[in-house]
Amino acid sequence: MEVIGFLAPWMIIGIAVIFLALRDGSSPARPRRSRSGGRVLAAVFVPLAIALAILIPGAVIADNGPERSGSAAATLTEEEERGRELFRQTCASCHSLAAANARGVTGPDLDSLGAIDRRRVEIAIQVGGSGEKRMPAGLLQGENAAAVGAYVAKVAGG
Ligand code: HEC
Repeated sequence: MEVIGFLAPWMIIGIAVIFLALRDGSSPARPRRSRSGGRVLAAVFVPLAIALAILIPGAVIADNGPERSGSAAATLTEEEERGRELFRQTCASCHSLAAANARGVTGPDLDSLGAIDRRRVEIAIQVGGSGEKRMPAGLLQGENAAAVGAYVAKVAGG
């Protein structure tokens, strides 16, 4: 998805340049004088536009490497990766979170909690719950709680 989002503007620019160059070159309303000018324009800009449309996104895709293409999970930082592991071990039994393939039902679905930042997750981990089904307090501490907070904040809602 991200790749398509990045490609789209280049494609549009390329197509627009080609369209303008061709239209200019073949427009019957134009006096002859500008025709050759239009051809030159087309001869220069069409290959340039095509080259840009292919090379630039190609370079970006190549740069991203194979493990980044496709899923959002691949763009996680090291801390978030650790958070994902911890989430699977510690939280997935009670919470749903699509990105982690978690389908717990004891606690709320973390994808539908609305705005959720790492602080909110860390607080939930620290203090636990107060409802009937009650989330245990202090399931994780310190760095581990922070990593899960970063991970959930990054992927929740997707
Ligand atoms: C034993 C089941 C259980 C486990 C394990 C569990 N939770 Fe919960 N969680 C709940 C329940 C139930 C609630 C709803 C509040 C309550 O009643 O305690 C909740 C609420 C939350 C909330 C919402 C708090 C808010 O601001 O609305 C977050 C965020 C959360 N949990 C994150 C986590 C994370 C991260 C982990 C793993 C470290 C985790 N939970 C582990 C049961 C659990």
